[in-house]
Amino acid sequence: MTDSLTIRRPDDWHLHFRDDAVMKGVVPFTARQFARAIVMPNLSPPVTSVEGCAAYRDRIRAAVPQGVDFTPLMTAYLTDDVEGDELARGFAEGVFTAAKLYPAHATTGSAHGVTDIARIMPALEKMASVGMPLLIHGEVTDSHVDIFDREAVFIERTLTGLVRNLPELKIVFEHITTADAAAFVDVSGPNVAATITPQHLHINRNAMFTGGIRPHAYCLPVAKREVHRLALRKAATSGSTKYFLGTDSAPHAQSAKESACGCAGIFNAPYALESYVTVFDEEGALDRFEAFASENGPRFYGLPLNEGTITLERGETTVPDTVDANGTTIVPFHAGEILGWVYRG
Ligand code: NCD
Ligand code: ZN
Repeated sequence: MTDSLTIRRPDDWHLHFRDDAVMKGVVPFTARQFARAIVMPNLSPPVTSVEGCAAYRDRIRAAVPQGVDFTPLMTAYLTDDVEGDELARGFAEGVFTAAKLYPAHATTGSAHGVTDIARIMPALEKMASVGMPLLIHGEVTDSHVDIFDREAVFIERTLTGLVRNLPELKIVFEHITTADAAAFVDVSGPNVAATITPQHLHINRNAMFTGGIRPHAYCLPVAKREVHRLALRKAATSGSTKYFLGTDSAPHAQSAKESACGCAGIFNAPYALESYVTVFDEEGALDRFEAFASENGPRFYGLPLNEGTITLERGETTVPDTVDANGTTIVPFHAGEILGWVYRG
């Protein structure tokens, strides 16, 4: 039995840092475990301009604890009015690493998102021509479509056509939650990849209703049936280079989750690696964890692999009921559980 796993330093290819006081509180959790992270732009107002994004990046850098080596990789928020030239300028200047497509009203902070992908085709063509990746929240927003079907319907209605019409565009299908999504990624060409969160590997939709309503198991895309969770575990641990680590860590105050209309989002940053490695261990795939956590992402993005290593050891990590993020109380993923791995840094 492997009791200790040393891997190249990993990256988180999808998360939410927010801004201001909470951001200062959550950045250190990610900087402790990851060398880089792709930072989502769904602030209020969203991050759309190159200058606004550079300023946000400066605020994040200032929140990284002294002596910790951590690089935020920034993203542009696509709106109906996005200019391809502005995206390309931000990409060329090294401010935008990628751009994020939120279908309007799909999730937290998506009110300014794209109403119809046809409207942004010129910008997507520009992105394809400069090699800038498109990150997609893949859910339709049509209220007539059952919430558990919105990802699968997005593949049918939007993603299949986009990949066919613009095969040169690098696409990351973010936080996939279904067997349908994994099947789509598997059969698509090398320009289509996906991130998978820890929660979608650990829980199915029953977790939201165990003995009562459980707001801390609610995120978007919502967790699906067990058959989908098993397909995601298979995809993540398959050895395919198309899948990589992206936590979708999404901090919301405890009070905003435990409410008559609780926010979508799971805060998993503090114990992300312990959570993921548990899955790879259970699947007998510890030898494939390094590629998922530290290699497939940078290779897809065309970025260098990190130098240095981190070590995870078998042991007990007790996840607290709450964590303090610079004055905001947040309930972390796995709250109150004991995980069977310890992060040694
Ligand atoms: C995210 C958030 O809170 O910003 N919420 C979530 O449930 N994942 C938005 C998102 O990624 O959908
Ligand atoms: Zn997200």
